[in-house]
Amino acid sequence: MDKFVVRGGNPLLGTIKVSGAKNSALPCMAAAILTEDEVILENIPQVNDIETERKLLTSMGAEVELGYGRAQHRTRIKCAILSDPVAKYEIVKTMRASSLVLGPLIARTGIARVAMPGGCAIGGRPIDLHINGLEAMGATITQDHGYLEARADRLKGAHIVFDKITVTGTEDLLMAATLAEGESVFENCAREPEVTDLAALLIAMGAKIEGAGTGTIRIQGVSKLHGARHRINPDRIEAGTFLIAGAITGGDLNVDCCEPKHLGALITKLEQCGVKIDVGTDHVRVRSGGELKAADITTEEYPGFPTDMQAQYMALATQAEGTSTVIENIFENRFMHVQELIRMGANITISGRTATVRGKTPLQSAAVMCSDLRASASLVLAALVADGETILDRVYHLDRGYEHFEEKLRGVGAQIRRMGDVFGRK
Ligand code: EPZ
Repeated sequence: MDKFVVRGGNPLLGTIKVSGAKNSALPCMAAAILTEDEVILENIPQVNDIETERKLLTSMGAEVELGYGRAQHRTRIKCAILSDPVAKYEIVKTMRASSLVLGPLIARTGIARVAMPGGCAIGGRPIDLHINGLEAMGATITQDHGYLEARADRLKGAHIVFDKITVTGTEDLLMAATLAEGESVFENCAREPEVTDLAALLIAMGAKIEGAGTGTIRIQGVSKLHGARHRINPDRIEAGTFLIAGAITGGDLNVDCCEPKHLGALITKLEQCGVKIDVGTDHVRVRSGGELKAADITTEEYPGFPTDMQAQYMALATQAEGTSTVIENIFENRFMHVQELIRMGANITISGRTATVRGKTPLQSAAVMCSDLRASASLVLAALVADGETILDRVYHLDRGYEHFEEKLRGVGAQIRRMGDVFGRK
């Protein structure tokens, strides 16, 4: 298993480029299931979850080309024939977002067999809201040996109020509703930019959708969708991670090719911490504003402070003067990074969903273990300011969602390198 070796102490200086959003690309790739025509997606990030999605679609009979040549970062998907509408456990267990094929498969083929995703490090991650919504649209869904078996002659439009705000739940049902008979009205929808990005692709494919990005989305079902070409949004979580990297190292970093309007909650918080922020049209410059000040966060659905930035913010909070309270409202077990940060010298206590960070504490290098995608990023950020050389194990977690992470950071002065497994094991 690959490791990272990070030597702390360098302020990050220069320009770092943001890639396409993994969490937009995954539902948009699944949306190609809805048509027999070719769908071309650009600005696809070269991360392992995208490769997993390619394998998943190919296993169902889709043609999927994935190219990362200079101008490319493009995928071409053609689901003319879906010979095997099954999302196999071997693939689903490595990526929960595989459940995003459930709605499109039922809508397109009337049948789907999707392995139950199971939980992950950060929580139980049920998909009951996906299932309840599809049943309300007329699907019959049974559970069989760890798989969901779903059938429907043709889905019917429905009025659904989500019990909880769910990003992929909203995306799954939105895709299903595009080919359902009649109108669907979904309330209490997720408003994340990834939902809006998916809706833009679906509309380009001929879907009739209003209200994406708000809490209420109306869809008029159509009989067929056609191919389209679409450019994926920049990754707001990668951009936010880099903003914190610039802040925590006291550097002067220009985060380029991002969408500043998706970063409002984080930018406001960083300014409260005393960080200097200059917002451009497609870039944000972050500079040290002197000593960091403590500030509290509570993770909320978009446009609130994103749960996917909680771990990264906590690393910053260890370097702020004062006490910062971090409340994780979305997932029940998203503090896996805390024990590792404590091993590096952080002063953090946890009570239920609240972590209390007392700073400023000098961090020391240590051998640490990555547990999930964003916890891994948090540990890299801590290592960038730790005294000495930190070894991070199991960076495959990070490779799922950050493209060329160590190369990008090295390009702005970080002392970070990848150390392959001596036996070449992944
Ligand atoms: C998406 O996960 C993202 N993944 C996550 O990013 C992100 O953390 C999360 O949204 C919240 O923003 C992708 O988009 C691929 P949810 P998702 O459904 O859709 C509960 C990353 O780091 N819930 O919005 O799975 C659930 O347990 C990943 O890139 C149900 O109870 O999250 C959670 O407590 C991690 N029943 C809350 O809702 C359901 O059927 C929000 O989950 C669905 C969700």
